[in-house]
Amino acid sequence: MIRAQDIVTQLTSHQLTPNKSEGTAYAPVNIALIKYWGKRNSELNLPITDSLSVGLRTLGTQTRISICAGQDQITLNGLLLATDHPFSQRTSRYLDLFRSSPAMRFVIDTKNDVPTGAGLASSASGYAALVLALNDLFGWQLDKSQLSVLARIGSGSASRSLWDGLVHWQAGTQSDGMDSYAVPLNQTLPDLRIGLLTLSAKAKPISSRAGMKQTVEGLSLYPAWKPMVDAHLAQIIPAIEQGNIQEIGQIAEHNALAMHATMMSAFPALCYWLPETLATLHTIWAAREQGLPCWATLDAGPNVKLIFDQAAQADVERLFPDVQIVRPFGINLP
Ligand code: DP6
Repeated sequence: MIRAQDIVTQLTSHQLTPNKSEGTAYAPVNIALIKYWGKRNSELNLPITDSLSVGLRTLGTQTRISICAGQDQITLNGLLLATDHPFSQRTSRYLDLFRSSPAMRFVIDTKNDVPTGAGLASSASGYAALVLALNDLFGWQLDKSQLSVLARIGSGSASRSLWDGLVHWQAGTQSDGMDSYAVPLNQTLPDLRIGLLTLSAKAKPISSRAGMKQTVEGLSLYPAWKPMVDAHLAQIIPAIEQGNIQEIGQIAEHNALAMHATMMSAFPALCYWLPETLATLHTIWAAREQGLPCWATLDAGPNVKLIFDQAAQADVERLFPDVQIVRPFGINLP
């Protein structure tokens, strides 16, 4: 069995001495249009299916990292966390892969633009920024596909947060996962808008990690998931090439609801939705009946993300006055 440590050693060639005083990096949050749900290897976060996302460009994680002695010091959004805080523990366990000696400790200062652990993809931008900051600190000069592999070991969806724009994470087939990394797509969708509806900023009670395991193991509708993802990918890639935001929205909404259906069919059942989540979905569906071209996607949490064309923005804002609108393809992006 190949261990995460073997992959890190192979990629970093034992280069674990800082070549500067501090490494810094920023990585964007990504929202999956075709979701990652289920692993074939849970230590390496190797997925059962491909997935495809869009980066939120202006929302993400900024991270600074340096070396110290004693114990890891992890500051999240300006607060120094206790060593037994779940965020510190998970981060320190990941950093264990990058210590040149057991005494080597890290000082990390990380800031998220979105609530942590609320299904708004903060672990994706978090691990991508951490890997980029480590690359900067240690001077590895790895390419983005190699960094995508390292970020994936921290959190699967982080493999897609190395780039802005549309990103396709290829599941790969190798047991060491060296062919399981993300690649950016060339296409841009300048008129695409993503709306964030934060219905609850509380951390979710069950992590995606535990939720996936619960869905995949035991009797559920999960066996239907891979063929559905394959069909959705075969539909969404041409829709992206044609710049057809309506079709992209339709496929993404179907994909997200199908993912939640696999969770609800697990035993014990898993449901990340709150009453407000379902009410919001009904509001979107009713507005769509009235002609508003707007679709929804949801991750492992109660919050809803809207997918629409800029032409619908004023109507979306009227329907949801609290919506936070992101323009994934800025004026300066290729
Ligand atoms: C529902 O990447 O958080 O957001 O690999 O266990 O860290 P781990 O899981 P994570 O799962 C994200 C699941 C999702 C869908 C997606 O982003 O593709």
